[in-house]
Amino acid sequence: MRPSVTPPDYEYLRKYLKDHSGLDLSADKQYLIESRLLPLARKTGLPGIGELVQKMKGGSAAFNTQVVEAMTTNETFFFRDKVPFEHFRDQIMPQILRARANRKSVRIWCAAGSTGQEPYSLAMSLKEMGAALAGWRVEIIATDLSQEVLEKSKAGLYSQFEVQRGLPIQLLVKYFKQVGELWQINTDIRAMVQHRQLNLLHDFSQLGVFDVIFCRNVLIYFDQDTKTSIFNRLAKAIEPDGFLMLGAAETVVGLTTVFKPVTERRGVYQPNEVHAAPARTVAFGAIAPKVAVMAGI
Ligand SMILES: C[S@@+](CC[C@H](N)C(=O)[O-])C[C@H]1O[C@@H](n2cnc3c(N)ncnc32)[C@H](O)[C@@H]1O
Repeated sequence: MRPSVTPPDYEYLRKYLKDHSGLDLSADKQYLIESRLLPLARKTGLPGIGELVQKMKGGSAAFNTQVVEAMTTNETFFFRDKVPFEHFRDQIMPQILRARANRKSVRIWCAAGSTGQEPYSLAMSLKEMGAALAGWRVEIIATDLSQEVLEKSKAGLYSQFEVQRGLPIQLLVKYFKQVGELWQINTDIRAMVQHRQLNLLHDFSQLGVFDVIFCRNVLIYFDQDTKTSIFNRLAKAIEPDGFLMLGAAETVVGLTTVFKPVTERRGVYQPNEVHAAPARTVAFGAIAPKVAVMAGI
């Protein structure tokens, strides 16, 4: 029987995905290709992976984007891993409130925001700070490679299953309304998050400089050189006293010295002074006019 992914097709896909999304597939991930790309092939009326590869070589950019997006893992949930959000609330934000007391502004970037649970967890956390942030200008920018997940994030509509994953019931009641069988996050929380399509392999200096960057559970899919290159560019996009948050299985250790782990705060990193970005080089709100000014509670 013909294998559904031939070695040349596998090599083509591996290289294409690495070049276009950073995804680093080892030599034995044929099953992943099959489970993620056969449904796309069938949906497009193609009998198998061979024909899908032929179509990709035909040069339809839109189709190739669908292939790349079909291969990304979009798994996410509200307050994922809990502890990083506790660090954000209990250590990082109090520090930023003190350090930025004069300019009263905070910029946060979710560099792989997926379907929105992570940026909206941050938006709710900030809203919960109430009076402490009254009058502050808050920017949360959620970016992702995949336009499809960004559309879902913008809509802020979640299933019962999704709101049961990590979201405390009191925040569900406070910040969501029921729409048929789904739950929609309230307009004021949605308005705190800006969305942008962005591939981390490409230059992101146009986004400016941030106080906090969440770049969680995306670098795990990349090879060492790609991770190092992204860390080096992230260091230029973060304030010297800013914070980088990584996922539970991610670290800078052994890859770069531009960030150092914050002692006893797992997943939290700060720029090393020698590499720190010059203090805010881009004006606040430079990439988009949408900036939430917190009314406080
Ligand atoms: C597993 S999700 C993580 C979501 C969230 N940060 C979390 O930790 O719950 C990974 C996300 O990274 C995105 N992604 C994959 N490759 C990317 C790239 N090269 N640039 C930007 N985003 C990428 C995927 O589309 C996906 O939405």
